[in-house]
Amino acid sequence: MKWIYSVSLAVTLAMQPAFADELFGQHPLTPEARDAFVTDLLKKMTLDEKIGQLRLITVGPVVTKEVIRDMIQHEQVGAIFNTVTRQDIRAMQDQVMQLSRLKIPLFFAYDVIHGQRTAFPIPLGLAASWDLDAVAQVGRISAYEAADDGLNMTWAPMVDVTREPRWGRVSEGFGEDTFLTSAMGRTLVESMQGKSPADRYSVMTSVKHFAAYGAVEGGREYNTVDMSPQRLFQDYLPPYKAALDAGSGGVMVALNSVNGVPATSDSWLLKDVLRDDWKFKGITISDHGAIKELINHGVASDPRDAVRVAIKSGVNMSMSDEYYSKYLPGLVKSGEVSEQEIDDATRHVLNVKYDMGLFNDPYSHLGPKGSDPVDTNAESRLHRSEARDVARKGIVLLKNRLETLPLKKSGTIALIGPLADSQLDMIGSWSAAAVAAQAVTLRQGMENAVAGKATLLYAKGANVTDNQGIKDFLNLYENAVQDESRSAQQMLDEAVATAQKADVLVVAVGEARGMAHEASSRSDITIPPSQLKLLDALKATGKPLVIVLMNGRPLALVKEHQQSDALLETWFSGTEGGNAIADVLFGDYNPSGKLPMSFPRSVGQIPIYYNHLNTGRPYNAQKPNKYTSHYYDAANGPLFPFGYGLSYTSFDVSPVKMSATTMPRNGKVTASVTVTNTGDRDGATVVQMYLRDQVASISRPVKELKGFKRIMLKAGESQTVSFPIDVEALTFWNARMQQVAESGKFSVMIGLDSAKTQNAEFTYL
Ligand code: BGC
Repeated sequence: MKWIYSVSLAVTLAMQPAFADELFGQHPLTPEARDAFVTDLLKKMTLDEKIGQLRLITVGPVVTKEVIRDMIQHEQVGAIFNTVTRQDIRAMQDQVMQLSRLKIPLFFAYDVIHGQRTAFPIPLGLAASWDLDAVAQVGRISAYEAADDGLNMTWAPMVDVTREPRWGRVSEGFGEDTFLTSAMGRTLVESMQGKSPADRYSVMTSVKHFAAYGAVEGGREYNTVDMSPQRLFQDYLPPYKAALDAGSGGVMVALNSVNGVPATSDSWLLKDVLRDDWKFKGITISDHGAIKELINHGVASDPRDAVRVAIKSGVNMSMSDEYYSKYLPGLVKSGEVSEQEIDDATRHVLNVKYDMGLFNDPYSHLGPKGSDPVDTNAESRLHRSEARDVARKGIVLLKNRLETLPLKKSGTIALIGPLADSQLDMIGSWSAAAVAAQAVTLRQGMENAVAGKATLLYAKGANVTDNQGIKDFLNLYENAVQDESRSAQQMLDEAVATAQKADVLVVAVGEARGMAHEASSRSDITIPPSQLKLLDALKATGKPLVIVLMNGRPLALVKEHQQSDALLETWFSGTEGGNAIADVLFGDYNPSGKLPMSFPRSVGQIPIYYNHLNTGRPYNAQKPNKYTSHYYDAANGPLFPFGYGLSYTSFDVSPVKMSATTMPRNGKVTASVTVTNTGDRDGATVVQMYLRDQVASISRPVKELKGFKRIMLKAGESQTVSFPIDVEALTFWNARMQQVAESGKFSVMIGLDSAKTQNAEFTYL
């Protein structure tokens, strides 16, 4: 595979500036050797040098390269963020070696969220693949490309479980489920860090945002989080723990408060849970500017106080502010912060630098001088075929009336919509160093697919939005939405005229990438009105209508669902998105993605998630009763449930077979089904296993995902899929906050989505 490069690491140290010889050498990458080394190094450091290590700086218009040079010379910086080329990184590391007293290497970090030079699908789209091998490949390639740019750390994975489609950052995470998110996070940590973050093509991960950021009230960005300890420990904390158990060297602290305490000032979270209970040995880093925000939170009186609170609460490194350097010396002098507390924080920073191998070779991710790529955006640096393959796996077929899809590569196809030819939107938000101009749009992908066989017509049809306020918002930091010289009516007329010439319509609608990002919360999760108008006009032509959705969150799609003949969820699918979507549209790839989040019918249903409690008065659609838990003006269930997704073939799931009807204490049982491809095409699907604790000391969810397996079946083929169930799958946090597995009956539900399952049960003794 392309990511396994047999590059010999002939880093000739002689070609680099002279090192402080006693610091660098072949230090064994073991915790014992590291502790001894760091203890020794700490003894040589002045208080100011230690405090300097606690500062992570963003290079930009305010803190320019010249300012950084000065800071390096005066030992005022420990790590750099937002510098992404080997040339720039090398220059700074050179300055450390030449200008600083102790020559402690900097580490370099960046938001490598779904690829570095190559954009893979946004994490929500990756989650929709339910394919851990594909996710591992994304992790390895992202780490390879990041390390090849000289980076040592990524601010990923983001494992904030969320039931809030209004929140813009749902695009960055893996959806609503704890088990799926944990699996994704664990896989990314393992694949990005590889055998060791010190390896030439590995990067250290920094799992975020600790903790529970995905539960912000009302989905409003940076808002309050308040939840029971049971829910926190059962549903929201496990993915962070899974990432740390997989070895993540870093933790980014969340911006929000949890139960009234901002995470940045939460010593219970950062010390008791993280360090004492979970035995985390790596580094905690504040989120961007979070320390001074403690003043707004109302837990610190001024910047100095905020620094005192943050360092004492366990925030080791501060991101993008000057406060640690400015106030820690005085706080130590006055005795409000002890030198021991500074030593502890500095030790964590030095530990991760050691683990990154920077004391063996500060240039380990840079290679020898002269080896830097001439063109950082060179085509040869991309991993296109892998990106195409992964993107196809995350695409979810939501509807396919009368086999509208796959399309034939003949006749005339009209491709219409504001997202049909948009490179910028295709790569999605948090696209790291990916270049939009290298992305394949849907238009390009379809042209590639039908070249010489069918006629492809194109019309934009509408703007993503005609709302000036939203346009201004999207254009704040990038040229995201350009004003059309034509009027909305002219675009619409052109689209209808184009549609009339075609046999079938493919319409690409949804969100601009900036609509599903940090600070992009929405109170309305429908497709913007300009595009709905376009859909109405195209529906009126009577032509078969294929809606291709591009978006970073679940949308409310009741009308579009009714209007469409086929509905395809493609998220923001990355550099090779256009080719990947075309592969699915034309049947060169049989869709197999499954939703990692429920799609509500309307905002009013939020929060809506599959693993809810039953309530004392559950609603029964077959036997409606006024005094039951429901809305009288809308259905209870989502439009599309968690785990849902169709295929061009059909599958049958047999009744569940249990290896035994009882499970001994701390023993195991196995649940199996046979899945048969009953259609006439080969295809993959995801078999999902859910459990329910029928009677427990506290009310337990109606179902919880406890296993999944992606399988490929040839037409007519059958496969038996078995899920071992152990005690871990049965445990929960009880009312006294003890983790227990209680005896009694458990339901086992196995299916190809969370709503339609084959059921069995067993008794836990
Ligand atoms: C985000 C983090 C991100 C950081 C650096 C913050 O605003 O919350 O997720 O890693 O910026 O880009």
